[in-house]
Amino acid sequence: MTGPARFITFEGGEGAGKTTQIARLAERLRDRGAMVTVTREPGGTPEAEAIRGLLVQGEAGRWDPLAETLLHLAARRQHLERLIRPALAGGRWVLCDRFLDSTRAYQGAAQGVAPDVIEALAQPVMQGLEPGLTLVLDLPPQAGLARAAARGDTGRYERWPLSHHQAIRQAFLDIAAREPDRCRVVDAEQPPEAVAAVIWQTMQGRFPEVA
Ligand code: TMP
Repeated sequence: MTGPARFITFEGGEGAGKTTQIARLAERLRDRGAMVTVTREPGGTPEAEAIRGLLVQGEAGRWDPLAETLLHLAARRQHLERLIRPALAGGRWVLCDRFLDSTRAYQGAAQGVAPDVIEALAQPVMQGLEPGLTLVLDLPPQAGLARAAARGDTGRYERWPLSHHQAIRQAFLDIAAREPDRCRVVDAEQPPEAVAAVIWQTMQGRFPEVA
């Protein structure tokens, strides 16, 4: 296949509305007859979901940051090999809730794992696969955390200090500024319909086959 991979990742802080937007985009693509796989990280396969349980539950500081990075990468490797690559090879679109940029933001920017360590460890996991488009849903962390709390999400990452969440937001914006061809920042404080409209417009620009 030529052109960008039909592999679309959604990134952003807590409560940014990724799940809602992924469902909308999947529906829109399916309406056009496309085959779509919706998945998430950490998780997406039974083994990676088991690793997710270790990561999202328990005390906020339970993991050494490098150990936590390795767990995310282990889950990602399993997810890539057993679900994402086969789906792409079968001609499916893959819409993934979080991916490597979350490791860069959460374990790198917030927890202090050196960027070159993350990139070096990620290389054999990824083997050159890159998302064809990354949508960064951006909003102030206070607003996102309030949304997450309102729906009862009180997992380990939600309990990290606000300063971590501020660093995470900035990290996503920095990644998007460095990689403008792959990433698009979307203002996630807008109503969901407006966010969905920007996403669809971006899709049409990036993937001429859906225009
Ligand atoms: P979710 O709540 O958006 O489903 O994601 C679970 C949590 O996992 C989220 O708070 C961010 C965190 N996370 C990382 O810290 N590093 C990663 O690489 C990924 C994929 C997620």
